Amino acid sequence: MGIEPDTVDLDAILDPTLTYRENWENVLKAIGKGSDRTIEEDEAEAQRREFLEREAERFEDERSAVSRGEDEHKAAKKVLKLSEENLEKWEEHPDEYDIEGVDYRIEGIVANYGSLELTGDWGVVSILGMRGMGKTYLLEHTTTNTEHIVWIDPTGALRPKKVEVLKIDVMPPEEQLSKIVERAITKKRAVVLDISDLKREQMVKVADVIADTIMRTAKRTGRTYTVVADEIGEYIEQEKQYYAPEFERMARVGRNYGVLWLILATQRPQKVNKHVLALSDYYIIFRLLHNRDLEAVKELMGVDSKTWKAIRSGIVNQNRGEYLIFDGKTYAWVRGGRK
Ligand SMILES: Nc1ncnc2c1ncn2[C@@H]1O[C@H](COP(=O)(O)OP(=O)(O)O)[C@@H](O)[C@H]1O
Ligand SMILES: [Mg+2]
Repeated sequence: MGIEPDTVDLDAILDPTLTYRENWENVLKAIGKGSDRTIEEDEAEAQRREFLEREAERFEDERSAVSRGEDEHKAAKKVLKLSEENLEKWEEHPDEYDIEGVDYRIEGIVANYGSLELTGDWGVVSILGMRGMGKTYLLEHTTTNTEHIVWIDPTGALRPKKVEVLKIDVMPPEEQLSKIVERAITKKRAVVLDISDLKREQMVKVADVIADTIMRTAKRTGRTYTVVADEIGEYIEQEKQYYAPEFERMARVGRNYGVLWLILATQRPQKVNKHVLALSDYYIIFRLLHNRDLEAVKELMGVDSKTWKAIRSGIVNQNRGEYLIFDGKTYAWVRGGRK
C-alpha cells in the first residue's frame, strides 16, 4: 500500500538505536519502495535528501563540542556533497572531510586545496595573497556554471589546461579591438586574453575595452559569463594613476549584464582600489606578510580586534596553496595535505 510521500514523518521513522543503514532501509520502505504504489522521482529525491540532512545533523550533534568547534571554522581537505556514500565517509573521518551545508557553511563556493568550484548563481570573489602562494594556480582551477569564462592575464602566467590563449600585444583602434575580443569570447567557451606585452597605459585601455565588450556581448547574446582577472593592481590602482573605470563598472553592475561571476586576484591588496575590493561577496586570503596588506584585509573583513588577532596569525602562518575563505559572516581555513 505505501504511504503518501508528503505525509511521511521522518522523525517518527528515524530510530537512533539503529544503524545508518537500517534507518535508511526503513525510510525507503516508508516512502513506498517495494509497494505497488509508484511515487514521483523528485519527491523521492527530496525525501532522500531530507533524510540525509537529518542523519548528518544528528551525527554532528553527537560529536563533542570541542571537536565540532575546531571543525566549524575550518574547511577540511575535502568538502563533499551530501550523499549516502559521502555521509559514511564523513562519519568515519569527520576531521578529514566536511559535508557541504552541514559542517561547512559557506554557500555558493566549494573551496578545496588547489581548486575552487563556484556553485552559486553569482558573486564577486577577491583573491589576496603574496607572490608564489598559489593565486594564479587557484584561478586556473576554478570552475563555474556560466556558459563562458574569460581570463584576463596581465602577467603572462595564466595558462589553464586546454584553454586557448589570445595574445593582445599591439593596440589596435578601439573598435577593431572590441571586434577581436567579441569574436574570441563568443567562439569558445573559455579563453585567456593575454595582455602582458602591452605598456602599462595600453594595458589599462585594453582592460577597459575588454570589460565593456564582455558586458555588451553578454547582454546582446543573453549568455552568462565568468570573468577571471589576475593581478588587477596593474589597472585598478588605489591611486588611480592606472585605472580602468569600465572594469570597475563590471564589478559593480556586471551581473545585470550577465557577468555572473567576477574573480579578482592581487598580491598587493593595499595598492588596489578599495572600492572595488569592497564589492566582493567572498574573500580568499593566502599568506600575506606586509603589515599594510594585512591592515587592508582587516578593514575588508570588518572583524573585531580579538577575532582579527587569531585570523591574522592564521594568515601569516599559511603554507603555499593554503587559504582563508570569508563570505562576509563566516570564515573557514582551507589547509593542504598533511598537518
Ligand atoms: N594547490 C597547489 N598545488 C600544487 N601546486 C601549487 C598549488 N598552488 C600553487 N602551486 C604552485 O606554486 C607555484 C606558485 O603558484 P602561483 O599560483 O603562481 O602563485 P601566485 O599567483 O600567488 O604568485 C606555481 O608553480 C604553482 O604551480
Ligand atoms: Mg600569480
